[in-house]
Order: sequence, then structure tokens, then C-alpha cells
Amino acid sequence: MTYVMSQRVRKFALTVHIMFSVGWIGAAAAYLVLDVTVVTSQDAQTLRAAYLAMELIAWYVIVPLALATLLTGLVMSLGTSWGLFRHYWVLISLLLTVFAVIVLLVEMQTISHLATVASDATTSSADLRALSSTLLHSAGGLVVLLMVLVLNVYKPRGLTPYGWRKQQKQREES
Ligand code: HEM
Repeated sequence: MTYVMSQRVRKFALTVHIMFSVGWIGAAAAYLVLDVTVVTSQDAQTLRAAYLAMELIAWYVIVPLALATLLTGLVMSLGTSWGLFRHYWVLISLLLTVFAVIVLLVEMQTISHLATVASDATTSSADLRALSSTLLHSAGGLVVLLMVLVLNVYKPRGLTPYGWRKQQKQREES
């Protein structure tokens, strides 16, 4: 893959990538607060409000930001000399992010189901309190995102076997 991005385009693309990815972390933190609320609160009104807000944040903020992060991450990798499979930090970021996106998309069904039950006026307070939460996933997800953030900022050295071969080839050519 050749490096197509000029310095200007690269800065712009990086700004967009950081906007989406760090935005995802912020939205995940807001979601986590609501998840803690549904685990700790006994108040029916609060529970209803929290489950509904969780679905809105998840569908309209977290899912779009997660997909946009993955897409702009691919652009930053393939559009620069970092490449997608050359450096361990990029490869691990890719795998962790893809894993986080898959878990998120599967979890969306549960989140929508919880919101549907919570918004049903016939659901009793006792049933509301008995509803499950997604706390394990939201807390675990946030940890994974913070790990990717640290990896992306520190960019620890380490070439994959493929990266070594590419580097050798480039040295021979130059
Ligand atoms: C939650 C997920 C992610 C977060 C929080 C994140 C965050 C960041 C941040 C803050 C930077 C700027 C670091 C700096 O240059 O000092 C960055 C750069 C970068 N990210 Fe991500 N990122 C994420 C996912 C990804 C994924 C999945 C990929 C690859 C598929 C990726 C590839 C890159 C690359 C290649 C750069 C360097 C760009 C350059 O040097 O111009 N990122 N990321």
C-alpha cells in the first residue's frame, strides 16, 4: 500500500479520528453512569428514565462513534506508513476495536429489549427493579477503549514478521 496522504490531509484525518475515538470513550462513560444507576437505584421513575436514555445514547451516539472510529482508524493506518499489519500496536488496536464493536452490536439487542420493557406502562416497579443491567459489558468495554487509547498515543515499538519483511524490501529498494 502506498502512502497517499499529504501532511495536511493527514492532520485533518487524524483530528477526525481523535474526535470520533475519544468521543466514543466519553459516550461510554456517560452510558456507564446510567448502568450504575440501574444497578443501584430502587426508584421506578429513575429506572425507566435510565433504561430509555441508555438505549438512545447507545444507538445514536455510541454505535455511530464506534463505527466511525474503526473506519477512520483504517484510514489512518492504510493512508500512512504505519500500515495495518506492520506494527503490533496498530494490529492490537484493530483487533481490540473490532472485538469491542462486535460485542457492542450484539449487546444492542439486549439494550433495546430493556428499554422496551422499561417504557411499557404495564411493567410493575418490582419487575423494573428485577431487570438486568449491561454493567459488565459497559465497564469492560471502557477498559478496552482506554487500553487502545494508551496504545495509540504511546505507539510502543515492535514490528510484526510482515512488517519486518516490508521494511527489508524497502531498504533494498532505496
Ligand atoms: C478506541 C479506539 C481508538 C482510540 C481511542 C484511538 C485514539 C487515537 C489517538 C488519540 C491518536 C493520536 C495519537 C498521536 O498521534 O499522538 C491515534 C492515532 C492513530 N490511530 Fe487510533 N484510536 C483508536 C482506534 C484505532 C484503530 C482501530 C486503528 C487502526 C485500525 C487506529 C489507528 C491509528 C493510527 C495509525 C494512528 C497514527 C496516525 C498518525 O500517525 O498520523 N486507531 N488514535
